[in-house]
Amino acid sequence: MATIAADMKSQGKEVINFSVGEPDFNTPKHIIKAAKSAMDAGYTKYTAGPGMLEFRQAICNKLIKENGIKYNPKDVLVSNGEKQSLYTACQALFDKGDNVIIFTPYWVSFPEFIRLSDAKPNFVKTNSNKNFEPDFEQLQNKKDKSTKGVIINSPSNPTGGVWRDETIVKLLKIAKRNNWYVISDECYERLVYNKKFTSVEKLNRENKIAACVITCMSLSKTYAMTGWRIGYSVGPYEIIKGMAKIQGQATSCANSIGQKAGIAALSGDQECVDFMKSKFLKRRDLMLGLIRDIPNVTCSSPDGAFYVFPDFSQYLNQTVNGKKLKDTFDISQYILESANVVTVPGDGFGATGHIRFSYATSSEIIEKGIEKVKVALNKVF
Ligand SMILES: Cc1ncc(COP(=O)(O)O)c(C=O)c1O
Repeated sequence: MATIAADMKSQGKEVINFSVGEPDFNTPKHIIKAAKSAMDAGYTKYTAGPGMLEFRQAICNKLIKENGIKYNPKDVLVSNGEKQSLYTACQALFDKGDNVIIFTPYWVSFPEFIRLSDAKPNFVKTNSNKNFEPDFEQLQNKKDKSTKGVIINSPSNPTGGVWRDETIVKLLKIAKRNNWYVISDECYERLVYNKKFTSVEKLNRENKIAACVITCMSLSKTYAMTGWRIGYSVGPYEIIKGMAKIQGQATSCANSIGQKAGIAALSGDQECVDFMKSKFLKRRDLMLGLIRDIPNVTCSSPDGAFYVFPDFSQYLNQTVNGKKLKDTFDISQYILESANVVTVPGDGFGATGHIRFSYATSSEIIEKGIEKVKVALNKVF
């Protein structure tokens, strides 16, 4: 889709992009200023492998204040983006012969992190009409002796779904009973609308479950810092130590300037986060209303992240311009070629019939783009 869009752009066509996975805002000024000061002050060298102590302390302060979980700096590993945290966790925990539960629709990188550790992803479906929460019956049938872990991603990319606390508690109890590692990807923790976000580890402690949880978090989405590549993981010391060994050989440490900027982000004024969140909420409602107005499309209201994940199943197997729309790759391609709008087909996330639209873009673009999609889809029926 990106290649076709690039070709169209090079032909001078105006292309609207709803595929973006990052905030359209620039990083807040006080964070940029901290990075500039860090460079001037000579913070341009390698740092300690697991991250600057000052930054890991700032992370621990944030974890207590925002997530209600106490950790020590030695239990924290700073990485080059949360993507590295998740990859390294899988490398440290899984091996050939293991399988790891992932819920569909899943973020595209999860199966690959698992395969790169020589383990196998074990896909379990979710209920699209219930916040994309796990189908526990299928989980029961699919788990076996080689299951070693489970990945939770709430709020989720691609669905935007936020699981209820009781669902997470139920899953944690199953994980504990079966001795699974739980990797919790909480990169959208601050982008939760009209609902309270609770960290998986907080629920684990509050309910005295004692499952083994490794929490991975990111500065990318919360502070519009995707390009800075700063993320972190926290968990039991022995696991974090193993992950630090792997990361130390792979990339030494996360970049020093980004770590200093990260201290400013976590310890500074959080008004910038509230500002971006309020913009995202308005855009979500706008996009949701416009998409629900397209005939034969249904869309649940996602409580988090910056994606909506409407259901286009009714368009499957319809024929337009002499071509049958076999799957969402075909629907997305049709939308791109006839409306000049880029979307992400749900089949890539293991979700037949759905298409992901990102609302991390301006209201004007949302209005213009969805109108074009509507006009194009009107020609299908
Ligand atoms: C679900 C999810 N987890 C993790 C990441 C990685 O974030 P980063 O590596 O930028 O910290 C992303 C980025 O798109 C994501 O969508």
